[in-house]
Amino acid sequence: MSEAAKHFDVVVIGGGAAGLMCALTAGDRGRRVLVLDHANRVGKKILMSGGGRCNFTNMYCEPENFISANPHFVKSALSRYSQWDFIALVDKHGIPYHEKKLGQLFCDHSSKDIVRMLLDECAAAGVAVRTDTPVTDVETGTPHRLQAGAEAIACESLVIATGGYSIPRMGATGFGLDLARSLGLPVQPTRPALVPFTLSGRPLEELEGLSGVALDTVTTAGGMGFRENLLFTHRGLSGPAVLQASSYWEEGQAVAIDLFPGIDLAAHLRELREQRPKLELKSVLGEQLTRRVAQRWCELWVENRALEHLSNADIEQVVAACQPWTVWPAGTEGYRTAEVTLGGVDTAALSSKTMECRTIPGLYFIGEVVDVTGHLGGHNFQWAWASGHAAGEYA
Ligand code: FDA
Repeated sequence: MSEAAKHFDVVVIGGGAAGLMCALTAGDRGRRVLVLDHANRVGKKILMSGGGRCNFTNMYCEPENFISANPHFVKSALSRYSQWDFIALVDKHGIPYHEKKLGQLFCDHSSKDIVRMLLDECAAAGVAVRTDTPVTDVETGTPHRLQAGAEAIACESLVIATGGYSIPRMGATGFGLDLARSLGLPVQPTRPALVPFTLSGRPLEELEGLSGVALDTVTTAGGMGFRENLLFTHRGLSGPAVLQASSYWEEGQAVAIDLFPGIDLAAHLRELREQRPKLELKSVLGEQLTRRVAQRWCELWVENRALEHLSNADIEQVVAACQPWTVWPAGTEGYRTAEVTLGGVDTAALSSKTMECRTIPGLYFIGEVVDVTGHLGGHNFQWAWASGHAAGEYA
C-alpha cells in the first residue's frame, strides 16, 4: 500500500443507515470523516424500505424486539439513542410521517426524505461521501490502512457498516463478515430472516389458487408467536406474521398457525350448533378465513355440512386443521428477498457502549453486520441508528 496515504480520523465502510448515522455523529464532534460505498448511491435499502416510504423507527421499540446471542447487548446503544431521538431528527428536518400500525412510523411521501436528511446532516458535519468505491486490502493497526479504488487511505478509526447478505442485487455483500473472520473475530452463524416461507409438493398443491388471500393469525415458530396477517403466495406463505416467525424458524421445524386467534373455535362451533343448527360449516369458517379458504379447508379436512350434522369428533377435526394449522415449510425465499440477515459479528467481540472491537482498538462494527436482528416494524433501522450513533460518539 502506498506510503502517501490520505489520512482521515474516521473511515466508515458502507453508506447505509448505520454508516451514515455514525458518520454524521462523528462529524458533529469535529472528526474528519470519510464514508466509502461500492454502490452507485448510498442508502439504497432505505430507499426501497417500507414500500418506498421507509418504516424508519417504531414508537414501542424495546430490547425485547431484537434477536441476538446476547439479548442484553442492544440495551446500552438503544437507551442512548432511542426512537424519540430519531423522531426528533426527522421533525427537525420537517419530514412528514404517520403511524401505520403497531407504532410503525412511515414517511408520508418518500424514503428519499430520510436519505436526504442523512446526507444533509453529513454535509453540515463536513463528512465526505464517496460512492462507486470498492474497498480492498484492509490492514488494521495504528493507523488502519485500506485501499479505496485507486487511493490509499489511512485512518485512526475504521467503522464497518456494510450490512448483511440480504438482497445482493442492492449491493449487499459479506464484506464485513469476511473481514471479521479474517481478523479472527467470532461470527454467529448467519441465515436469512424476515423472509417468506416456501412450500413444496402436496402442501403447496393444497393451497393452489389461494395466492393473494390474507388472514389474521397468530403464527408461531421456534416458540415465538406473532399476531399479524398471513399472506398466501404462489410459492408458499408470506405476510408480516410469517416474516416475523421466520426469524425464529430453523430448517425442518414446523410452523403453527392459529387461524382463529383469540377464539375458542371448538366452543364457538358447539354454541352455534345449538343456536343455528342449519348454518353451514363453510359459512362459519368463512367469516374468519374468507370464503375461498373456508371452501378449501372443507375440501381438504372436514366435509362441509350443516352444523347440526357435525359430531363432536368432527368439531375436533376442524379445530385440528385450524387451531393450529400446522405447516412444514420446505425452506425460505433466501437472501434474494429476506429483509435482514440473522447472526453476524458476535457481540462478545464488541463493546456494547462504543461498538468498538475489544481486541482491535479503533475498529468498530455497527448495524446489520452485527449479531443483532430486529423484529419487523422499524426496529432494524432503529438498531442501525442507535449502533451508528454509539460508534459515532467514540470513533
Ligand atoms: P445497509 O445494508 O443499509 O448498508 C450497507 C451499505 O454497505 C450499503 O450501502 C452497501 O452498498 C455497502 N456495502 C456493502 N458491501 C460493501 C463493500 N464491500 N464495500 C463498500 N460498501 C459496501 N428495516 C426497517 O427497520 N424498516 C423497514 O421498513 C425496512 N424495510 C426493508 C425492506 C427491504 C426490502 C429490505 C431488504 C430491508 C428492510 N429493512 C427495514 C431492513 C433494513 O434495511 C436494514 O436492517 C438496514 O438497512 C441495515 O442497515 P446497515 O446500515 O447495517 O446496512
